[in-house]
Amino acid sequence: MTPNEVGSDPASRAEALRAEIAHHNERYHTLDDPEISDADYDALVRELRRIEADHPELADESSPTQQVGGAINTTFSSVTHRVAMMSLDNAMDGDELRAWADRVVKGLDGETPTFVCELKFDGLAISLRYEEGRFVQAATRGDGRMGEDVTANVATIADVPDQLVAGQGVDAVPSVFEMRGEVYMTRSSFDQLNARAIEAGEKAFVNPRNSAAGSLRQKDPSVTASRKLSFWGYQLGEVVGGPEFTSHVAALEYAAALGFRINDHLRSFATIEEVAAHCAYWQEHRHDLDYEIDGVVVKVDGTAQRDRLGVTSRAPRWAIAFKFPPEERTTKLLDIMVSVGRTGRATPFAVLEPVFVGGSTVGMATLHNQDQVAVKDVRPGDTVVVRKAGDVIPEVVGPVLSLRPADSEPWVFPTHCPRCANPLVRPDGEADTRCVAPDCPAQRDQKIAYFASRGAMDIEGLGEQMVEKLTASDLVHDPADLYSLTVEQLVELERIGPTSARNLVAEIEVSKARPLPKLLTALGVRHLGPAASLALTNEFHTLDAIMSKSVEELAAVEGVGEVIANTIVTWFSQEANRAYIERLRSAGVGFGDPQAAAAAAAARATIPQTLEGRAVVVTGTLAGYNREAAEEAITSRGGKSPGSVSKKTFAVVVGDSPGASKLTKAESLGVPILDEAGFEHLLATGDLP
Ligand code: IVH
Repeated sequence: MTPNEVGSDPASRAEALRAEIAHHNERYHTLDDPEISDADYDALVRELRRIEADHPELADESSPTQQVGGAINTTFSSVTHRVAMMSLDNAMDGDELRAWADRVVKGLDGETPTFVCELKFDGLAISLRYEEGRFVQAATRGDGRMGEDVTANVATIADVPDQLVAGQGVDAVPSVFEMRGEVYMTRSSFDQLNARAIEAGEKAFVNPRNSAAGSLRQKDPSVTASRKLSFWGYQLGEVVGGPEFTSHVAALEYAAALGFRINDHLRSFATIEEVAAHCAYWQEHRHDLDYEIDGVVVKVDGTAQRDRLGVTSRAPRWAIAFKFPPEERTTKLLDIMVSVGRTGRATPFAVLEPVFVGGSTVGMATLHNQDQVAVKDVRPGDTVVVRKAGDVIPEVVGPVLSLRPADSEPWVFPTHCPRCANPLVRPDGEADTRCVAPDCPAQRDQKIAYFASRGAMDIEGLGEQMVEKLTASDLVHDPADLYSLTVEQLVELERIGPTSARNLVAEIEVSKARPLPKLLTALGVRHLGPAASLALTNEFHTLDAIMSKSVEELAAVEGVGEVIANTIVTWFSQEANRAYIERLRSAGVGFGDPQAAAAAAAARATIPQTLEGRAVVVTGTLAGYNREAAEEAITSRGGKSPGSVSKKTFAVVVGDSPGASKLTKAESLGVPILDEAGFEHLLATGDLP
């Protein structure tokens, strides 16, 4: 369906959209097996809403725009909600958020309310009912009026209390208390569940939400119990015999006192601009959490103001869901191809009908390796779910089986290198299939492109396409050849003008002076990445010094270890590699600074080594140190500054907006947590404050 169809005939387009949305409602709510991503679904609803707004004569009470959620799954008996479980309207960006706030202020005759922001958890809405304090029923949202009875399954969730108790400021438990909230699966439980499924040769779940939904719909509660589900409470339903709450925050505090888990990222704001900044913050930091969120829910705090604003047929006017841009979309898998990397690894990748996801248009996505294609069983012609989360490279999550063409065949991994036609091999017990031909042009080109890449020698203008031109014309056979290229040679090549040629030669020249860690990385020695390259440089300062060291001497360097040390020594012992190094040397490529060794030793002598052998992890922003300065302060005192927390960590220093996983890990391992003042004390004395 294309947007052009909208204009042609609004009535039939609306009808088609209604049918399509009803179909997807059933797939999502009843079958737990959606065929399209949430973003694609939202787009259909928005299109229908636009048509209905432009053509009031097409309004229809039974339109999905006027209803909540899905039909009832007949496996479970149905439950009538005494207080309707409503849905939320969405704001897709800051402007829509501000427009909502304007409507709220207008509805309150000019009063600006206090806004409460909660995370929008990506799970399943559930209503928990307690009578005389006892948990008696759990129901899904269903169509908002009637849901499904999932009591037996929900009773297995550890976060759902069996019995509410008075105390903590609650005098008596209300005779009826309904807690609404989200049942969800943490990312870590999801990963464990999928690892087990893959091991058992079962179909993997697509995402934590679907697996939470699938887990709740089990006929056998012991299966649900094995799935490790969690629950956050965020809204009260029917309450009889309880206090009157003047605000939402007070209601949630009360729920917390009764024993419900309330998420602690709840914040109140006086202006919509602060709300917008808060939403932007979480859009940026959503991956810091161990559970998935797909937006921020903004609610009016005051109960009386909520009553004045009221509700529409499907959603309250006093709340809005600020939705993050989608990280998952569905699209067509046009083909599966295999690329050969610099180490000969053959990686399957998906060629996709381009789709906008995770902030950019994606036309290709990795499929990782042969087993992953087999486990996911994705096939050319399939409709697939594509995911691009944060900085992670796009991947194909899995096929939408209900849309698979009847004549589709499983995809077969090639037996020969697509570039040099030599046989591909897969050693026993390894996940990767490789081209092992020593003269494979794909490997050669990739090695050169890697040498020039940003994390290595950073030669601008020397991407894969340029490398292919250079090797195809026989000008370049390995990275050392780059340093003898001339402008005259380059302008002879197809589609390279004199300016690009001059720029490229200049960029190559500049790269000769890159610091040693860059060169070490650029050599492409297996396992030797930027971190170990930096550690080796800090210790030995020149390439010649590193080349002269034994496995033991290299392995003794923090962050290097025996595996890397072994591959380095083996690599430098090979005649061809030594010849390559000598050609780089004669070309004038810098091999490190011999004076740095002496300077580093002198600096160490003047700074007291208070942190000798201690690992201190810094997370978040400190006022007096940027990341490098904090690391420098630790390492110059003899300490280490690893990127993650372990039981060996001496202390964790926490600044503003710390990484949630580091903090949680430190807490669970009992590692001391310090603020900036504590950090300064530690630097000065080596002791905890
Ligand atoms: S409040 C009447 N708060 O979003 C208001 N909903 O798109 C009821 N959701 O069905 C919902 N996190 O499944 C609320 N902090 C939160 C939420 C939240 C996730 C879900 C919920 C709801 C859906 C609406």
